[in-house]
Amino acid sequence: MRLRIPAPFDPHVHLRDLDWSHKGTIVSETAAALTGGYTALLDMPNTPPATTNPVALNRKRARFLESARCDWGLWFGAAQPGNQEHFERVQHQVCGLKIYNNETTGDLLIEDQELRDRIIAAWPAGAPIAVHAEEDTVDDILQLVRHHRKYVHFCHISSANELKLLASAREEGLPVSIGVCPHHLFLTRDDLTALGPLGLMKPELKASADRDALRQALGCGLVDVVESDHAPHTLGEKYGEVPAHGVPGLETTLPLLGQAVHEGWLEPDRLAELVSVAPRRLFGYPLPPDSWTELDLGESQLFDNRDLRSHCGWSPFSGMRVQGVVRQVTLRGRQVYDGEQVLAAPGSGLPLTQRNPRVDA
Ligand code: DOR
Ligand code: ZN
Repeated sequence: MRLRIPAPFDPHVHLRDLDWSHKGTIVSETAAALTGGYTALLDMPNTPPATTNPVALNRKRARFLESARCDWGLWFGAAQPGNQEHFERVQHQVCGLKIYNNETTGDLLIEDQELRDRIIAAWPAGAPIAVHAEEDTVDDILQLVRHHRKYVHFCHISSANELKLLASAREEGLPVSIGVCPHHLFLTRDDLTALGPLGLMKPELKASADRDALRQALGCGLVDVVESDHAPHTLGEKYGEVPAHGVPGLETTLPLLGQAVHEGWLEPDRLAELVSVAPRRLFGYPLPPDSWTELDLGESQLFDNRDLRSHCGWSPFSGMRVQGVVRQVTLRGRQVYDGEQVLAAPGSGLPLTQRNPRVDA
């Protein structure tokens, strides 16, 4: 069976470039996006120079305009000791505000609950907020959502306990959405023995009970979005003295979800909902006309590092066989990936500038 997914949209990637071009460039990583079946993505602000002021934002925008092969939007980052003075000016140029509330790659950590409160208060209502929040921090952020009633997307939820907290927030009627990542759906901390540093990311891999809870939450509709959290680092950095956290994911996510369908824990209709319909609705970006990706569920492939277009050249899934092959990608009536070649030139991707007002479910 060939699944036709309307214009897959990844709301959570780290494409690097600029000061971290050695890890990847917008040219290389948007080629990876198209190869993996994605027509659009939203880039995170933690790559230096961090996207936390209008100068850095303009620099990144210029780079994307000349380099991106697929459509793109940019997250603005909250920064110490508070950068609220920029919010009004940048809100229409970005897809939303990202707040890092636990430690990860980069230096955008905000640990002070009062500063978090001031940041959320200052961000314009109606524009999305996305948070990196793990375990108890999920509760800290929920308190602020309860207070401000502003929409917050919880990125890369990875444990049964976090799901429980968010399920009750949903029941309470709080405006929250939930994203999960393919590595937390397919790997556990047991895989660290084989993967070594290639299995390190934030949030970390968890127990198989957590993975199973995520799978179940995906099927039942509690989880809204699958996001790759594509975060390439060089092999040297992964095997260095202090291993870098993060794994690439743009080229493996849709085939892995094909495997989930094959294994019977994901319905094909849910797959399209999780990687296109829901993220587009939540973050406000309409489906472009004549745009779809063909995912062949009747064919298997063996993931192999040598096939990757991502500049880093490795994947934690290398060596795994999955039922699902991206056959072609069409964007606005033009074939941009034919199953072998990326046909879109750098700069041909469009900025996602017009954000629809959010329609809260
Ligand atoms: O593992 C991660 N890597 N988690 C993040 O939140 C950031 C990312 C990165 O940028 O490397
Ligand atoms: Zn991330």
